Amino acid sequence: MTARTCDIEKAAEVLRAGGLVALPTETVYGLGANAEDPAAVARIFEVKGRPPSHPLIVHIGGAEQLDEWVQDVPATARLLAEHFWPGPLTLVLRRGPRVPLEATGGLETVAVRVPDHPVALALLSAFGGGVTAPSANRFGSVSPTTADHVRAELGDGVDFVLDGGSCEVGVESTIVDVTGDVPSVLRPGGVTREDLEAVLGWPLAVPSTSRVRVPGQHPSHYAPRARVVLVESEKVVAEAESAQELGHRVGVFLPSAFAGTPVKAHAVVTVPDSLAAYARGLYGFLRELDWQGCDLIVATLPVEEGLGLAIANRLRRAAGPRSTV
Ligand code: TXA
Ligand code: MG
Repeated sequence: MTARTCDIEKAAEVLRAGGLVALPTETVYGLGANAEDPAAVARIFEVKGRPPSHPLIVHIGGAEQLDEWVQDVPATARLLAEHFWPGPLTLVLRRGPRVPLEATGGLETVAVRVPDHPVALALLSAFGGGVTAPSANRFGSVSPTTADHVRAELGDGVDFVLDGGSCEVGVESTIVDVTGDVPSVLRPGGVTREDLEAVLGWPLAVPSTSRVRVPGQHPSHYAPRARVVLVESEKVVAEAESAQELGHRVGVFLPSAFAGTPVKAHAVVTVPDSLAAYARGLYGFLRELDWQGCDLIVATLPVEEGLGLAIANRLRRAAGPRSTV
């Protein structure tokens, strides 16, 4: 089921009235509010259980609207916007007066992107303003890639859910800070580092997973209920089987090279060969293993190239120390 025109109109009405709308994007589903309505923005934090100091992304309908929301746009930012929007790239720039501090967690910078999804673009066009939207999950947990994931996780907390089918990319947008002299990647995502470097013409630094750079980048994020353990590819089967023997209910991310290998575990997901398919399926696989009642997930990191960088980043964070902040 995908959203119809009347659903888009209804969703735009809900935004105008200060409500929350879950909307599909090409990366993951977002929990959207009118970016210019501080009370609606505050409700996002409440529903997500997210600390209000964690900044949100403002979604806009086209690159030509950028100057309505930010100031001091450097040439590099325009170049990246021109190449990658609509698409899974978020640019961090200096906040314009139209963006309330509630949406930026008090920062003088703001994250902006143009999503590449027909339903999201139709909503932005019908609504006419900016929609601030984090991923539509409870704080710290796995991002939703279907409308059913949103309903299962947020229930009545959302006033309206726009169904746009399964998200194509499956991991969140790449966040690039373009406020300094040299752009820096704050979060790897749907636009690969290689693609960015090809457009920029110079190498970019890879973010460190262990260092907290901005609020919202905690080590434990994107985490399922089950504990995630990362081991080398050749050790996945043995690790899974010994944990299962110890009484765990083990879910396995079986590397594609071992597809078909019988594994004595509670549930097995064979990881797709292509990184694009792996990224698209990643959050669904984690949710599936949770639903099946696994308490431990054994996985391995993909090669950190292309979309592998974003997948590895999410798996590391899923396996990171759990905190309550
Ligand atoms: O693909 C995506 O980016 C999805 C879809 C819905 O667009 N959204 C998403 O939002 O992943 P969220 O809130 O889950 O993650 C936004 C990230 C946070 O890690 C936050 O710290 C960072 O963006 N961020 C937002 N504003 C920032 C700013 N001004 N400076 C640095 N980081 C910022
Ligand atoms: Mg998120």
